[in-house]
Amino acid sequence: MNVNHELDMNNLLMQYFNHTSEKIVFVDNQGQVIAMNQAANDIIALDNDYEGMTNAICNHCEGYTNEFDLQSCKQCFLEAETVGNTSFQVFMKTIYGTVEPFTATYQMIDEVNGVKAFTLQNVSPQIERHDKMYQRKMMQKTIFAQENERKRISRELHDSVVQELLNIDVELRLLKYQQDIDQLLSDSKRIEGLMSKLIDDIRNLSVELRPSSLDDLGLDAAFKTYFKQVETNYGIKITYLSNLATNRFDSEIETVVYRIVQEALFNAIKYANVDQVDIEVHVCNQKLIAEVIDRGRGFIKTDQPEGTGLGLYGMRERAELVNAEVTIDTQLGKGTIVTLEVPI
Ligand SMILES: Nc1ncnc2c1ncn2[C@@H]1O[C@H](COP(=O)(O)OP(=O)(O)OP(=O)(O)O)[C@@H](O)[C@H]1O
Ligand SMILES: [Mg+2]
Repeated sequence: MNVNHELDMNNLLMQYFNHTSEKIVFVDNQGQVIAMNQAANDIIALDNDYEGMTNAICNHCEGYTNEFDLQSCKQCFLEAETVGNTSFQVFMKTIYGTVEPFTATYQMIDEVNGVKAFTLQNVSPQIERHDKMYQRKMMQKTIFAQENERKRISRELHDSVVQELLNIDVELRLLKYQQDIDQLLSDSKRIEGLMSKLIDDIRNLSVELRPSSLDDLGLDAAFKTYFKQVETNYGIKITYLSNLATNRFDSEIETVVYRIVQEALFNAIKYANVDQVDIEVHVCNQKLIAEVIDRGRGFIKTDQPEGTGLGLYGMRERAELVNAEVTIDTQLGKGTIVTLEVPI
């Protein structure tokens, strides 16, 4: 390298350092800032604790330094040699008194004195945009699902309930003109039969929408009625084990448990390709635990869903309402276990 070139490089690097929008911070081996460029000065507060970044699960990167451990301080960027070129997220205090996320990379530039250069980019706007996009997408999916559900209920009402009612209406009209007493009796019996079928249809529909037994008698009774109905309607065997008896819980908890079990059961019926589903609901150690187990096809969580993919998302959303946790344990060819744990 000739002298001129070196001078040029120094000049260029200084220009870059002074004018880039990237925030560059030099830190010594004590975690002390020894220099910052203008871009960094414009936003990064002076009292950021760079040394604190090395403490267990520090507040700066919250342990998100690598893609293998969800949160740990393994491979801390201040200590590890191997993460120099990977970028990670850090939270920095700004001169406006806020704490904002930045993507950061660092490079050891002086091994002897332990001087490192951090390059930071503010990612708040991207995160905000991404959050909004995600919310919009979810809203669209929810509206679509609602609309589908309404269509289904409307079709159900139209095809079964209204048809049956029309039938009964015709039969009743004819009944008026019936003189033969025996015929009158047998016609009335037929109408009675039609009526009880209609009542069954409406009952099925209402149990599916929201079982009154859930409010009146609690989870155990509601599950028993519902599973019996699903067994008849879908020709599937459901083994139900529970120690709930007549225990009652917060109404919100009961609804969440009912809906999540309902969704998991329906997924098993639709996708697992099984003729039996096991459902266990227990109270133990201040927790209400519900498990829906199928020994079917299993699936890969990251694969494109066959349906809307809203069910699993909805399960998590519902669980969050009552501080509960849903875990889905699934293996191809082995089956799926959906576990819900609700603190009570
Ligand atoms: N028990 C299961 N066995 C096999 N595959 C499953 C099971 N549960 C879920 N899946 C797979 O996961 C995907 C996502 O399920 P999810 O409940 O989120 O959506 P969906 O059932 O497809 O749509 P929706 O619930 O809105 O009707 C499904 O499309 C299916 O491919
Ligand atoms: Mg589903």
